[in-house]
Order: sequence, then C-alpha cells, then structure tokens
Amino acid sequence: MRTRRAALAAMATAASLALTLTACGRNSSGGSKEDKGSAKGGTIGIAMPTKSSERWIADGKNVVKDLEAKGYKTKLVYGEDDPDTQVSQIENLITQGVKGLIIAAIDNKSLNNVLQQAADAGIPVISYDRLILGTKNVDYYASFDNEKVGELQAGYIVDKLGLKNGKGPFSIELFAGSNDDNNTKYFFNGAMSVLKPYLDSKKLVVKSGQTALNQVTTLRWDGATAQKRMDDILTSAYKSAKIDAVLSPYDGISIGILSSLRSDGYGSGSKPLPVITGQDAELASVKSIIAGQQTQTVYKDIRKLAEVAATMVDDVLNKKTPQVNDTKTYDNGTKVVPAYLLQPVSVDKSNYEDVLVKGGYYTDAQLK
Ligand code: GAL
Repeated sequence: MRTRRAALAAMATAASLALTLTACGRNSSGGSKEDKGSAKGGTIGIAMPTKSSERWIADGKNVVKDLEAKGYKTKLVYGEDDPDTQVSQIENLITQGVKGLIIAAIDNKSLNNVLQQAADAGIPVISYDRLILGTKNVDYYASFDNEKVGELQAGYIVDKLGLKNGKGPFSIELFAGSNDDNNTKYFFNGAMSVLKPYLDSKKLVVKSGQTALNQVTTLRWDGATAQKRMDDILTSAYKSAKIDAVLSPYDGISIGILSSLRSDGYGSGSKPLPVITGQDAELASVKSIIAGQQTQTVYKDIRKLAEVAATMVDDVLNKKTPQVNDTKTYDNGTKVVPAYLLQPVSVDKSNYEDVLVKGGYYTDAQLK
C-alpha cells in the first residue's frame, strides 16, 4: 500500500507539473482557442450535484473557467441533490448537442440509461470526483485518493488522542457519507483501517454500538440528518459519559454534529468539544477550526481537480489519451475506470495558514 502510495504521489507531482506547464504554455501562447483543432467552439455539459454546498459551486465555476480557457463553451447544471432531476438535466444536455459531459453524480447508480443515450450520441463522459457505477459508458474518472482521505481523518484522531502513546480508553462515534455515493465506502474503509486496532483493543469504544457502514451513513451528506443522529446517540449512550472523538467524513456533516454537541453543553465548562474531523475545507469549517470548534478537515484542491477533468475531456475530443495514474482501484461493477487521483491534505489550526492561505485557496480576510 505504502509503495503504491509513494509511486502515486510521485506520479501525481509529475503530472501536476505537466498540467501546470501545459497551462502556462497555453497562456503564454495567447490562449488555447487557436491551439485546438476539431474541438474548437464545441459545448461541454457539466452536471453538478447541488448548490447547497459551497465546494460544488466552486467546482462548477472552476470547470467552466478551465474549459473556456481551452476554447469551449459550457452549460453548467445543478441537480439539487435529486437523482431524477440530474438524469433529466443530462438528457437535456445531450439533446442540446454537447460534445462531452463532466458529471458529479448524485446517485451513482441512476445514470445507466442516460449514459447509454450519451454513448449512442458519441459523447464522452468524465466522472467527476464521484465514480459513476454500473455502466461501461464512463470513459475516465478524475478524483482524489479517497481511501487516503479516511486515513487522514482517522490518523488525526489517533494522534490527537495520543493513542499511539498508550493513552485511552476513549469514546468515539462514527459518521459516514451518503450510501448512494461510491466515495463513502472508500472514506469509511480508509478510516476504519486506521481505527480498527484501537477498536479491537478497546482503547476506542463506540458506545452507541453503531460501527457498521450501513448503520452510520448520512443520506445526501445532509448536516441536519447527522445532527439528528448525534442527538439520538447523545441521549441514548452518553447520559453519564463524555464523548472524546467523532469521525466525520465531511464538513457539512461536522457542522451538524457540532450543533448537536453544543446544544448538549459541549464546548463550555467541564465538557470540552471532542476531536472532530471533516473534509473539503469549506469556509464555515475553516472558521470553526480557527475558533477551536471543529478540529480538522481534509483539504482537496478542487482547482486541480477541475483542471484534470477539463484536460481529460479536451484530450478525448482531440483523440489524445488522457493522463491517468490509477488503472486498478476504481471498478464500477462493469469496468475498471481509468483514473487520475490527486492527493488530499490534512488541515487543522496549526497549518491552515500555510496550506490554505499561502496556497491561495482563501485569503486571510475571508477567514476573519
Ligand atoms: C463526496 C466528496 C466529498 C464531499 C461530499 C459531500 O462525494 O468526495 O468531498 O464533497 O461528497 O458533498
């Protein structure tokens, strides 16, 4: 695993350099419109899952910007977390004659029929961030090392609690993402691979008893759903005990969990907030980290993800083979989808300035 990771990381660095160089080359030669042959002037359809989370709004904007820089027009749609809406939006894009599709699925299993229509019309499909399942009609996958995301979250909890130094036992509760999102199991399995030895030795105890993935998922990654589950757990399992850590897979879920904890008196007096993880480095969560509430998040540079996806579709349309760095991990049930995986980074109060501000993701003023 480690060797594969090291190799992946090295390839990712080389490839990201290549992407940067390509981007610079195009800019300095006065834009890409003139560079492109057959694809010039075509429209790419982009289907994003929801505007209720700021990351997807930024994803949409970034992909549009990168495609426009490569000489394409774009049509960007948001499915508002309703799988049927997303299917009809994609049907519309196909009818409107898009040349390529970039899709972040809402329900990864619901796109089979519509992607057959895309294939019949000769439209290539890039699966964006979330793998589309059960169809051969998905050409490439652009994402992050999703298992590593879970490892970073759980590794953070292990470090913060001092479990490696023999401290414990501690209580922990586990939350996972939406059960219709293929990423959910990668995040959860990555985290559990790190937590398992401590759960086995009872240095970590899940007082609710809910440890199986199907007991801890959060439909559509909804913060209010997570808040309700945390309320129920606190009432049933923590009347006389204190919770020390919460594995949360995503910032929107972390915010819901924090609301529940705070209404139960955590964060004041003798009840410090537990260690609580997250993902996406959303603005509200980074502010919460700075304020000492959420403890950690996993930052994924979605500017790079957009660039990878835009480059993939551009390459396919220009009959070039897109660069990938993983041809084994992402089996969608019908085929292994060739993937380009970027690296996630753990962020907390100690490094947000270096990673997020110096990295140009947020300005200091935004974080005030
Ligand atoms: C996942 C994605 C996460 C998070 C989550 C909720 O598919 O990989 O980064 O954004 O959806 O939107």
